[in-house]
Parts: sequence; C-alpha cells; structure tokens
Amino acid sequence: MADRDTLIKILDLARWAPSGDNTQPWRFESVADHHIAVHGHDTRDWCLYDFDGHASHMAHGALLETLRIAASGFALRAQWARRAGTPDSAPVFDVQLADDPALAADPLIPFIETRCVQRRPLQSTPLTAAQRAALQAAPGPGYSVRLFESLPERRQIARLLWANAHIRLTCPEAYPVHKTVIEWGARFSTDRIPEEAVGVDPLTARLMRWVMKSWARVDFFNRYLLGTVAPRIQLDYLPAIRCAAHVLISRETAAQTVEDYVDAGAAMQRVWLTAESVGLRLQPEMTPLIFRWYAAQRRSVSRLPQIDAAVARVGAQVDAVLGAEGRAVFFCRVGSGTAPHARSLRRPLAELMVAPGAGISN
Ligand SMILES: Cc1cc2nc3c(=O)[nH]c(=O)nc-3n(C[C@H](O)[C@H](O)[C@H](O)COP(=O)(O)O)c2cc1C
Repeated sequence: MADRDTLIKILDLARWAPSGDNTQPWRFESVADHHIAVHGHDTRDWCLYDFDGHASHMAHGALLETLRIAASGFALRAQWARRAGTPDSAPVFDVQLADDPALAADPLIPFIETRCVQRRPLQSTPLTAAQRAALQAAPGPGYSVRLFESLPERRQIARLLWANAHIRLTCPEAYPVHKTVIEWGARFSTDRIPEEAVGVDPLTARLMRWVMKSWARVDFFNRYLLGTVAPRIQLDYLPAIRCAAHVLISRETAAQTVEDYVDAGAAMQRVWLTAESVGLRLQPEMTPLIFRWYAAQRRSVSRLPQIDAAVARVGAQVDAVLGAEGRAVFFCRVGSGTAPHARSLRRPLAELMVAPGAGISN
C-alpha cells in the first residue's frame, strides 16, 4: 500500500539519484497516497554546463528512474508523465504508484545509496565478459553502448579530455560555477561537491583553494605558472588512461525534447547502478559532450573568442574520436577501484518536500 510512510521511504531513497554538481534540481510534493509530484527546475541561468537545461533534465530522469526502482521494493509500480503546460525550465512530473503484488523488487535497489562518483584513477584491469555484457544491456531499448577499452583508445580520449579541461580551467564564465559548486575544505557535502571528492592531491587542493579566491589569481596562475597542468594531469589525463574503459551511451535518434533528455537520464542511471552492481566505479565525463552541444548550435560559451574557438575544436574532436553524430547523451569512464573516501551527500528529505499546492522556491 502506498501510504504516507511508504512514500516517504521511497522518496528518501530516490533522492540519492545523481545530478550535475549535486544540484538536486527537484522538490517533492505528496499529492495523495498514490500520487507524488516532482517539481523540477534547471540551472541554466547560472551554470554554463547546464546547456538548455539538458543536464538537469537528465538528472530528473535519473531521479524518476530511481524512484521507480525504489517503489518496486514495496510492490508498487511507478509511472510518470510530464504535467502539460509546465515550462521546460521547471517541468513538473506526476508520478502515479499502483499496487502490483506480482512486481518483483528491482535487483538494483541495494546500489541506489552506495553508487557515487569516483574521480580518482581506477584499475586498468580489463572488463570481464560479464561486466561488458551487463553494461551493454543496461540502458535498454533505444540506446547503444560503445566501449573504448584499448590503450590507444584510452590515450586518444586522454588527449581529448586534456584539451577539454583547458577550456574549463581558463574560461572566465566557468570560474564562478566551479567556485560555487565545490564545498572547499569538506569531505562530505549535502548540497555541493566536497573538495576532497574532486580528485586532486591535498597539496594541489590547498593551492586550488587559494587560487580560486579570485579570477585575477586564476588568470595569473594559468598564464605565468602553468596553473592548468597539475589539475589536468590529475583530473583528466591520468584517470583517462587508468581505467578499464570509457563508455559512450547514444540514442538511436537524437534527443530533442525535455522528455528525450529525461529518458536519457533514466538510461544513464540504469548504467550507473548496473556498473556499481558488477563492481565497477564510474565517473561521468560530460563536459566534452556539453561543449559539443554548444559547438553544434554555434552558441557562445565565453566572451573570449579564443575559448569559443577551442570549444569548436573540442566539438570536432568529440565527433572524430567518439563518433555517434550528435546522438550521444552520456560519456563516462569505469573500472574497479576502492570506494572514494569523500562524497556528495544529499539535502535532508524534509528540505526537499513542499507543501501540497505550495509555490516552489529553489
Ligand atoms: C547529467 C550529469 C552530468 C554529470 N557530469 C559530471 C562530470 O562531467 N564530471 C563529474 O565529475 N561528475 C559529473 N556528474 C556527477 C555529479 O557531480 C554527481 O552525481 C553529484 O555531485 C552527486 O554525487 P554522487 O553521484 O557521488 O552521489 C554528473 C552527473 C549528472 C547527473
């Protein structure tokens, strides 16, 4: 039975879904015993990585899929539909829960809370046949999975990420985003990414914390002291080589609508939970795809023309190295490794709940 206690338990699990920079762009309304409204929002007005809200819509999909999986543990079948007339920047999803005594609990339930990003280098031990098969099957119909496993392929991707990271670190518009989304000096964070989960060594982290105090410092450090080299080696180049595989998930048809990106986010979460279930750690590598979205639509990332030129080059490199002709929706690396000692937590459920019919403030 979907009584209020059960709904709370389901939502308490579902809130562990991943979201870009741990923004958790959702609030929950318990409308009735069998009806939850998920009020989504996006972060495109302040986060350049949330191109047209796609990353937030994918997070909404991950949330709805996690809710569906969690509900199966209570023999409840969850189905969602976007509420007609709700804007792309604040879509509302109505989730109906139907009793289904024959429904089996989803085997991915135990991994909802343990799944998290591991941004440090992983083992390059090749994937087993079982791991490969599990990853290939995870996103389901309408999606394909391409694995980049060989050393030459991983090297090629390391070069792509190297060029990509230079943009992230030298783009003035990215600076306030990075400053906001990292909780400096923290091991855990309920609403951001804690510094210790970023993936650099403690010395580089301390230096980054000092440099990030102002854009003038960042700019000086980058220009005269090769400031992008240490973070790029630690965050991009080495982990790109020290992993078992990079994984590209593409749709059969290019995503166009909010619902398409929500669906892609559900597929992403199935892949991520499946990776966790077969002993693989995962780190998303979304920014090359995001810069490709900008490049494909000739949209400007920065007031600096050299950044836009670099974005266009990365867009072309994505097509040359990854292929998929604009149908790719998720890119990540996987491999065995220890669980990270630092991670993002979540806002308490009470903070995410809104009163029935209440206006939503993010
Ligand atoms: C659509 C999407 C894109 C993401 N892109 C990146 C990325 O490019 N790099 C990265 O390190 N993490 C990325 N993340 C992971 C989030 O930062 C992470 O899920 C969030 O901070 C919560 O942490 P957790 O997954 O460890 O619980 C992405 C997550 C989502 C849902």
